[in-house]
Amino acid sequence: MQRDQNIINRWSNSAPFWDKHREIIRHMFAPVTKALVEEAQITTGQSILDIAMGPGEPTLTIASIVGPQGKVFGVDPIPEMVAAARREASCLELNNVQCEVAFADDLPFRVDTFDAAVSRFGAMFFPSPLDALREILRVLKPGRKLAFAVWHFAERNPFHFALSRVVDRYVEAPPLEPDALDSFRFAASGKLREILKQAAVEAPTERLLQFTIDAPVPVEDFWTLRLEMSEKLRERISTLSAERMAELKRDTLESINEYATNGRISFPGEVLIVSGSKPHSQQPLLE
Ligand SMILES: C[S@@+](CC[C@H](N)C(=O)[O-])C[C@H]1O[C@@H](n2cnc3c(N)ncnc32)[C@H](O)[C@@H]1O
Repeated sequence: MQRDQNIINRWSNSAPFWDKHREIIRHMFAPVTKALVEEAQITTGQSILDIAMGPGEPTLTIASIVGPQGKVFGVDPIPEMVAAARREASCLELNNVQCEVAFADDLPFRVDTFDAAVSRFGAMFFPSPLDALREILRVLKPGRKLAFAVWHFAERNPFHFALSRVVDRYVEAPPLEPDALDSFRFAASGKLREILKQAAVEAPTERLLQFTIDAPVPVEDFWTLRLEMSEKLRERISTLSAERMAELKRDTLESINEYATNGRISFPGEVLIVSGSKPHSQQPLLE
């Protein structure tokens, strides 16, 4: 069991903002949720695990897919995220949702419990993805699927780089360790799939999902949204003077402008969907 206090602090600080922007975030990444649901073969009546659900996605969307005969268990290590997900489930009167505080590598569930397991933009932050995968395999029923969505390269995602290329001109980008717990940790083709292989996941596969990140957000509000979603970005620019901050905002809005029309933003997006199954008979685990 490994923990990274930095990551925990970062997500605790971001939790109120992810809750505040939940509807826009749900809308922007709905195509990713759809891809995970298809890949994990999620249908009515099943029992599903969503790891690193943040304030509740894709847990809440999946709850309406599995319906009242099914059940979704969402986990996240940040209590504020879990509280936000519980509030929303209750608001939506979704009685088939259960949200728990848990790390991916220490899940409070019995062996062979779930019909499928998914994680949207979570795997990059697991300190040991191999330990997490072994734990997910433990709670998954034999023969059932797990599917992860991770970001493809930043340069392929203007949702990220339209901001970061400007911020880099104002604040030097901090050097990244080779396997840093960062949004783009699994951007390289095959990297996460290789860990699935090591964990003895059956038939690990990877596909590139190209989609549109679309939201009814004016460009000015998008700047606020992105800053609030990313504690890392807020930290980076926190040392700028008010004057430099105003310049940065102006330059960023200019950079994002080509993706904005009629009060909406619309970016091409690229994500890797990495998936596989739990073997019917557990193979010896490779180190
Ligand atoms: C980018 S957010 C994704 C939230 C949500 N799945 C979504 O797509 O909107 C990443 C989430 O990973 C969670 N996380 C970080 N480290 C984790 C770990 N070791 N185990 C499980 N979740 C973790 C964070 O608390 C955060 O809520």
